[in-house]
Amino acid sequence: MKVCVIGTGYVGATTSVTLAALGHDVVGVDADPRKAELLGRGTLPFFESGLEDLLREMIAAGRLRFTGNGSQAIRDCEVVFTAVGTPSAPDGSADLTAVWEVARQIGRTITDYTVVVNKSTVPVGTGERVEEIVLQELQGRGADVPFDVVSNPEFLREGKALEDALHPDRVVIGAASQRAREVMARLYADVVAPVLWTTVRDAEMIKYASNAFLATKISFVNELARLCERTGADIAQVARGMGMDGRIGQAFLQAGVGYGGSCFPKDVDALLHLARVNGERLGLLESVAEVNRTQTGWYLEKVRRVLGDLAGKRVAVLGLTFKPGTDDIREAPALRILAALLDEGAQVCAYDPQGMAAVRKLVPSVVYASDAYAAMERAEAVLLVTEWQELVELDWQRAFGQVKEGIVFDGRNALDADKMTAAGWRYYGVGKGRLR
Ligand code: UDX
Repeated sequence: MKVCVIGTGYVGATTSVTLAALGHDVVGVDADPRKAELLGRGTLPFFESGLEDLLREMIAAGRLRFTGNGSQAIRDCEVVFTAVGTPSAPDGSADLTAVWEVARQIGRTITDYTVVVNKSTVPVGTGERVEEIVLQELQGRGADVPFDVVSNPEFLREGKALEDALHPDRVVIGAASQRAREVMARLYADVVAPVLWTTVRDAEMIKYASNAFLATKISFVNELARLCERTGADIAQVARGMGMDGRIGQAFLQAGVGYGGSCFPKDVDALLHLARVNGERLGLLESVAEVNRTQTGWYLEKVRRVLGDLAGKRVAVLGLTFKPGTDDIREAPALRILAALLDEGAQVCAYDPQGMAAVRKLVPSVVYASDAYAAMERAEAVLLVTEWQELVELDWQRAFGQVKEGIVFDGRNALDADKMTAAGWRYYGVGKGRLR
């Protein structure tokens, strides 16, 4: 099928590549022609494991191309995906400027039946507004072209985008008409996953609800970690025991320094905003956001209890991206940690396998090391903030020989506490018993 994907950011690029891999004839559109050209030459503007290889393969196979000319692409295709950004506005709502602009362009352009599929994360009711805008544009030019608006949210995790897009747990499709459902069924015919057919509004809500629920699991376990530290229990064991109940599940019960990234913080805020404007208060979700906002402060409080005044102390921070396997630092807890350490006068030396260039631009007064061992040289404390495999698997015995004080604050409970202690380290995890 001929498919057009408007927006070539993280979601748009992944969608374009995977739809091509499913055998469709795909054209990716970006308003910035330089970006489109770069992608067309097989270069991804971000890091995502395995995606660039598949991008090149699809371009070489002639199934994927990129253009800055959206109108031509829209006219040529039966299915048009919107995958543009919906950033947070100052009041927490999703800024839908780009979504409206694409809707106007579609209305100005289509000449034949088109299925307009929204992939961007948008508040409930957006699909209906898109439909109105397309209709207005069509009427404005006196055209009577049939079209349908569909909501097909994405559930990609950064670092696992290909796996999630090609082998999803489920495909959610919100579509009002039988004609649109038939088109979408053909589009996903080769994806082996359960398909949930819903209304457009349901599909829009499912996306927010899923992210908000995952964020809730994380904040729940993080808040419990605080209590575990006071009561002498180990949150990792508690979470393991809880997760063995099939109704609870093991996933997303990993206590740490809090969630970050481009989705959870933004989507939680957008859902809270959606509730407010609809006269509801989501008290539970407000607490989820609050626990996450205060989690880095709670972690640093422990660092202060052990180290005392941080002024002049040499602190190594390992792992800066919001999670491993990505170069994304959006809403990364490490940014708040670096800012607080600098504010208190600590001398900070940091290392990350992928995120240093981006962090350096935001926080220039930190020393960035060429590797983890160099970052730990003469450190009086080591803070592991993101659990990159490379960092977890360091030779911690060797590192112990380089630090001034062997104190490690494992912000992700990723290191083996017993091994660390055997190598001489004073180990502090998250929610692992009383401070000694
Ligand atoms: C998330 C959703 O998982 C995905 O379905 C959606 O489409 C986009 O948002 P992503 O932001 O890529 O994906 O990352 P994810 O792996 O979900 O992690 C989000 C944050 O939660 C990270 O900062 C991670 O460190 C943190 N996290 C995750 C925890 O602190 N504990 C956990 O148990 C799991």
